[in-house]
Formats: sequence, structure tokens, C-alpha cells
Amino acid sequence: MNAPQLRAHKRRNGAAPLVMLTAYDEPSARLADAAGVDLLLVGDSLANVVLGHDDTLHVTVEMMAHHVAAVAAARPAAMIVADMPWLSYHGTVADAVMNAGVLIRAGAHAVKVEGGRNRLPVVQALVDAEIPVIGHLGLTPQSVLALGGFRVQAKTSEAAERLIADAIALEAAGICALVIEAVPAEVGSAVTEAVTVATIGIGAGAGTDGQVLVFHDLLGLTGRAPAKFVRQYADLGSMVTAAIRSYADDVRNAAFPGADETY
Ligand code: KIV
Repeated sequence: MNAPQLRAHKRRNGAAPLVMLTAYDEPSARLADAAGVDLLLVGDSLANVVLGHDDTLHVTVEMMAHHVAAVAAARPAAMIVADMPWLSYHGTVADAVMNAGVLIRAGAHAVKVEGGRNRLPVVQALVDAEIPVIGHLGLTPQSVLALGGFRVQAKTSEAAERLIADAIALEAAGICALVIEAVPAEVGSAVTEAVTVATIGIGAGAGTDGQVLVFHDLLGLTGRAPAKFVRQYADLGSMVTAAIRSYADDVRNAAFPGADETY
């Protein structure tokens, strides 16, 4: 998968739905790539998922680059997309281009930015710098303070129209795909109809050109009940705890290490 292929990947043209999954380190990237995902997202959700924060506002470009490099070390066939973290593209356009360059040099093939028409200068500058850009509309987690929480977006027809206008403007600015998060299914489908670039939904219904989930949600590793839009395909959290309990029992009972585990 590369940026031109991604841009053209539309289900209405006969393409199969795209599969995107987050990855934050080498093992998760290697396992997801072996399963044949199309895109690996080094999401700023790593703030919540692996660093224990309540929101995504706590990661910096340097932290993102650290995780992008770990994912790239898996040398995946999948395209690596890196989130530009909060404040890395909200100042000058020149700073945004340099920050995106750090993520590309760390191993990303594209960057993702949150926001609509307010982000057009940044998107255009990144595209001018030959950096593939993915947009992100609907619930944009970096806006959590301004939005007053994590809520389903575009629930009124006016808000849905604004979101579609944002999508069309981002497409004209040169994005190669658009993530749509937490909107009614009809809005996910309407945006997908309105643009020629691939849309990738999370909590946006079945009508988008692809789906994205968080690695730890899919595998049951969060220790929390999954959100409504998540399908949990395994309960690895319980398996991990049971395995570690067995190890602890074996150590305490002097059953580990055995003779064949000893030099
Ligand atoms: O950071 C992330 O994991 C994301 C997905 C929710 C799309 O942006």
C-alpha cells in the first residue's frame, strides 16, 4: 500500500474494505503485519493506551518518533501512518512541515492530522513538501478540552453538512485518505460518497472504505469494557494474567527453572 494506491482505494470502484490497526512497538507491528493489515497507525492514542494518560494531549513529536521507529523496525509490508501530536501543527506551517519530517525520517510513510477547514494551510504545506497526509474528522480526540469530552459528533444535519464540507475541502487540499471517528453511520456513508479519497471509519458505521481499531481494544488488553464500536476478537488480557500467575506459582513452588532450563 502506498499513498496513490490509498487515495484511489474506494469500495464503490470494487476495492475491498481497507484494514487499519494501531501499532505502537515492534512486536505489535510484526504481529499485525503478519495478519495482513493494510495500514499500521502509530496513533497518538498511545498516550491513553500504553502510557496511561486520560487523553492524547501528552505526547510530543519526539515521543511519537520513538514509537514510529519501533514500528518501522518490524519492516512491515503495511503502510505506516504516524499521528502528528497536539501542538505539532497548530503553530506555524513551517514548524508543522519540520515536525512531520521528523516522523517521516523515523519511518512513517504518511502523517495524520486532525481537523477540517482550519487545517487547510497545514495540509497544503505538507503536501507541497511531498508528505502524504491523512485527515481526521468527526470526534478529534486532540479537541477533547474544547469539545468538553469524547462524544459522538455530527448528530445534527447542520453538523453533518459542515463535516462533509470539511471533507471536501481537505480532499481539494490533497489528503490521500480520511479517518472519520464517532459519527452516525449515515454520516460516515455520506462523507464516503462525497469524496474520491478513501475513508477509514472508527465508530462511523459500515459504509466507509475501511475500518480502524486500536490493537489493545481488538485483543482485550485494556482491562476495561470495550466501547460500543469495538469488536473484541480475543481476551488476551485474561490469558496474559493467567500465564504470569502460572509463572509466579512455579517460581514460588520451586518448579521453575527445571533441569532442562538450566545451564
Ligand atoms: O490515535 C489513534 O489511535 C487514532 C484512531 C482512533 C483513529 O487516531
